[in-house]
Amino acid sequence: MNPPSENPDTITIHRPDDWHLHVRDGAMLKTVLPYTARVFARAIIMPNLPDPVTTPAKAGAYRRRILDALPDDGVASRFLPLMTCYLTDETGPAMLAEGFADGVWVAAKLYPAHATTGSAHGVTDPLELGSVYEKMQEIGMPLLIHGEVTDPDVDIFDREAVFIERILTPVIKDFPELRVVLEHITTREGVQFVEGAGNNVAATITAHHLIINRNAMFQGGIRPHRYCLPVAKREEHRLELRRAATSGSPRFFLGTDSAPHAIGDKEADCGCAGIFTAAAAIELYARVFDEEGALENLETFASRAGPDFYGLEPNDERITLARGETPVPKIVEVEGDIAVRPFGAGRTLNWEIRD
Ligand code: DOR
Ligand code: ZN
Repeated sequence: MNPPSENPDTITIHRPDDWHLHVRDGAMLKTVLPYTARVFARAIIMPNLPDPVTTPAKAGAYRRRILDALPDDGVASRFLPLMTCYLTDETGPAMLAEGFADGVWVAAKLYPAHATTGSAHGVTDPLELGSVYEKMQEIGMPLLIHGEVTDPDVDIFDREAVFIERILTPVIKDFPELRVVLEHITTREGVQFVEGAGNNVAATITAHHLIINRNAMFQGGIRPHRYCLPVAKREEHRLELRRAATSGSPRFFLGTDSAPHAIGDKEADCGCAGIFTAAAAIELYARVFDEEGALENLETFASRAGPDFYGLEPNDERITLARGETPVPKIVEVEGDIAVRPFGAGRTLNWEIRD
């Protein structure tokens, strides 16, 4: 790690994209979307709404609601939502391929049923989806995976590693050309799996998993706003994620998994999983790359590797990040008495976006 004093004070990169994002719907959508759209040119939109995005019609309608929720000023108005299809036990390969060919969606999301928020309609047994994987492999459609087993006998901190062993390894063996993004990896096993696989396998990494380990959830008491799934792991895993993210490898790219929930739904008897990082996402990543002495690799991670994997061009525009001060709001009001607590609420980050 270089001492930060040897690192540059400003960095200009192609405008980044967010390859894993939850924007919700209704008033929440209207509130959280501008934070992303002012910085990121495109985002992969997660389909886990209460009524999941399972058909081209639903994806088209949701895309329209997202476009309608954009502020009509400057950069934000040009934001492009990239839609995904929520896989269920009933998803038909033909419909999936049709939506892909028509450009309605760019990928499909696999949630093992009951693995996380909004996954109740997910896939009961991901090993049973052979005809879907076969079609996706044939047409080159990326499969985005929430990689955790749901077996209650498996310790929650082991669920990613066990998923890789029991599900992902055999799936990739049977479908060696399938394009897979292992989303929001949290473990050394996740990093190793990607590094040991072919170029058709990549992973997204969140800012929060680069910043906190599992102790942060219990610092001085229970911290519901630091709880997400996959749950943060031991320090040794966080360090491995940092190494992978900042390495310059095009197989690891930016996906915030920013996942807002009303404060009341998190500070509850059974609080929801999800961390809202969109309020200062690129600044959080810049801090990590700075600390690792790897700012020169931020552009690959944030702006080049993702488009490359999805067969898209990087954005033409550029943004400049500089040492400075970005205050993270203490609270983001949604409507009525509903509000969201951002990750790092009330803190000041040491990188800012320069216009
Ligand atoms: O923490 C999480 N929150 N993990 C997920 O996989 C889903 C997300 C959400 O939608 O809230
Ligand atoms: Zn997610």
